[in-house]
Amino acid sequence: MRSVATERLLLRPFAESDLDDLHDLHRRPDVTRYLLWEARTREETRMALTAKLGQTELAAEGDNLAIAAELRSTGRLIGDFTLEWLSAELGRAEIGFVLNPDHAGRGYATEAGREVLRLAFETHGLHRVIGQCNGANLASQRLMERLGMRREAYFVQGEMLKGERADLAVYAMLATEWARG
Ligand SMILES: CC(C)(COP(=O)(O)OP(=O)(O)OC[C@H]1O[C@@H](n2cnc3c(N)ncnc32)[C@H](O)[C@@H]1OP(=O)(O)O)[C@@H](O)C(=O)NCCC(=O)NCCS
Repeated sequence: MRSVATERLLLRPFAESDLDDLHDLHRRPDVTRYLLWEARTREETRMALTAKLGQTELAAEGDNLAIAAELRSTGRLIGDFTLEWLSAELGRAEIGFVLNPDHAGRGYATEAGREVLRLAFETHGLHRVIGQCNGANLASQRLMERLGMRREAYFVQGEMLKGERADLAVYAMLATEWARG
């Protein structure tokens, strides 16, 4: 991916030098509470970073683009975004977002998420982008609503998360909706 500067962020591929900041994100139980994985040790974060270093293109179905969100004023990594190409036939992808809680509540995830959607629809010509989260993850649902995604489904106790039954909220946006703004 080509790096993209927004008002306050630089969205770019991950770099080896992101390890400390990425670990400051991935080590936190408050961050991973609603994610499919548990808080990571430094070695586990290093393995996750190694995978991200190779996730730089959406070239084929199944590819997962790893997008680092750097705060331009400090040069530090504060967010870990993904765009996964689910289906070439349907032009369907899934957005994912993780923001360091020290930087929450300032609109950074909204600013980055908007660029990830722009990348999906304008650069890659995708048709439909979905986002899914735990029903109790209200910050994530508010974010998808701020991004203009529609809530399409709410599956009551439709999932298991970390050994507990969990609700699943599904959001989506179509290319036509993105174009309407
Ligand atoms: C989901 C997540 C990224 C949302 O982060 P966030 O900080 O709430 O989102 P933003 O950075 O866009 O900030 C929005 C908040 O800042 C406020 N805000 C302040 N300035 C703002 C601005 N310039 N633009 C937009 N919002 C702004 C908004 O009102 C909003 O507050 P509210 O949610 O209390 O209404 C974050 O909670 C997270 O990383 N969670 C852990 C990982 C996770 O669960 N990811 C989702 C998996 S599905």
